[in-house]
Amino acid sequence: MQYKAVIFDLDGVLVFTDKYHYLAWKALADRLGIEFTEKDNDRLRGVSREESLEIILEKYHGEPISEDKKKEYLVEKNEIYKDSLGDMTRDDVTEKVRQTLSKIREAGYRLAIGSSSKNTSYILERVELTDAFDEVADGTMITRSKPDPEVFLKAAQLLKENPSDCLVVEDADAGITAAHAAGMDAVAIGAATVSGRADYNISSFDELLGILHA
Ligand code: BG6
Ligand code: MG
Repeated sequence: MQYKAVIFDLDGVLVFTDKYHYLAWKALADRLGIEFTEKDNDRLRGVSREESLEIILEKYHGEPISEDKKKEYLVEKNEIYKDSLGDMTRDDVTEKVRQTLSKIREAGYRLAIGSSSKNTSYILERVELTDAFDEVADGTMITRSKPDPEVFLKAAQLLKENPSDCLVVEDADAGITAAHAAGMDAVAIGAATVSGRADYNISSFDELLGILHA
């Protein structure tokens, strides 16, 4: 086997919470009179909450915003976002994703999450996916978010695998950069396929089975 473990990004790969991130940021941006499109949102994929706010504020031209005010905005965004997460159920993970994860595990691979999100555990519980993974590395365990490799190196460390034995699955350009910086190959799905920088591009989640011979 070319790889021993697979590290999955969460938002935009296993669950479509990327849509809820967008809507929550959009509500805040609208209130502040900042233009914010779905294309702008692609720049926030994989990036921490704090860095996302700074990217959104690049288009803000009003009075200077204090650090305390920024903290309030981060809380406000996360509250709007968590309201959407509260409606998620098991049905928010497709059967295709569940079955593909099971088949990969049955083929002998170890599975981990590598996500910048501090809401990772909550999301995995809501959609009943916690047990599908051997390890979880998330935004609560790192100091630098993607494109820094920290979260993927943390996942490899938890799995007790060499980085070069791990394959990353990502929808974020920042995530492809992070995987390569960690010494890992990367599979792109969705928005990350556009740049063509990943080692593999897939358009459907079950194409992973072909890559892994699972
Ligand atoms: C990543 C998302 O998974 O998590 C980013 O792609 C998000 O858009 C980041 O900003 C942090 O998420 P959270 O849930 O901690 O605000
Ligand atoms: Mg993602």
